[in-house]
Amino acid sequence: MNIKACVFDAYGTLFDVAAAAREAAAEPGNEALAEVWPKLAADWRLKQLQYSWLRAVTGAHTGFWQVTQDGLDWAMEASGLEDAALRERLLALYFELSAYPEVPGMLATLKSEGFATAILSNGSPDMLDGAVQSAGLAEFLDDVISVEDVGVFKPHASVYRLVPERMGVAVDEVLFVSSNGWDAACAKGFGFVTAWVNRAGEPVDRLPWTPDHILTDLSPIPDLTKGL
Ligand code: LAC
Repeated sequence: MNIKACVFDAYGTLFDVAAAAREAAAEPGNEALAEVWPKLAADWRLKQLQYSWLRAVTGAHTGFWQVTQDGLDWAMEASGLEDAALRERLLALYFELSAYPEVPGMLATLKSEGFATAILSNGSPDMLDGAVQSAGLAEFLDDVISVEDVGVFKPHASVYRLVPERMGVAVDEVLFVSSNGWDAACAKGFGFVTAWVNRAGEPVDRLPWTPDHILTDLSPIPDLTKGL
C-alpha cells in the first residue's frame, strides 16, 4: 500500500454546489428562481471559479466567501433576479451545503481502513467549518486545510504543498480527489496521484496533465485507495 492520505476538494466534490439554488427554488415565494435555477447555479459556479483564478493570477487575493458573493451577484443579474432576500437565502444555503449522499459512508470506510483524510479547499476556514459541521463530517476528517494559509487560490502549487507539510506524508503518498477536472489535472502536475469525479460526464480538460483515475461518484474511493 503506497497511499497514506486521501485528500478531497470540497465544493463540487464533497458538497453539492447546485444544492443551494435547487433548494431555494423549491421554497414558497421563489417562483422566479424556480424557472431559472439550473442556469443560476451554473453561472454562479463558473463566475466564482473564474474570479478565483483571476485573483490568483493577478495577486488580488480575497477570501472565497467574497468571490462566492461576487459570482452570485453576476449570476443573479444575468438571470434578471434582483431580490436582496433571495440573495441572502442563497448565501445562507451555500454556507451549509449538503454533502453528496455517499460521502459520510465513504469517509468512514477510509478511516476504518487506516487512511488519513482531509479537505484541501479554496474555501475560507469559516465556510468549510459551516459545511463540514452541517453535513456531520467532522468525525471522519483528520484535517481541513484552507488556501487561506497561503493566501492564493488553487491551482497555485503553494496550495497543494500544504498537504505534505500539514499531513506529514510524501507527495506521492497522497490520493487527491476532485470533481473539478482542472483541479485534478493540476494536482497531478504537482505530483499527487489523482482521481477526477466526473459526475456530469464532461470531456477531459485539455491541460498538460491528466487525472490518473476517472470516477462517476465517490463510492469507489476506498477500494481504489487500497489498490494503489
Ligand atoms: C474548492 C473549490 C475549487 O473547494 O471547489 O477548492
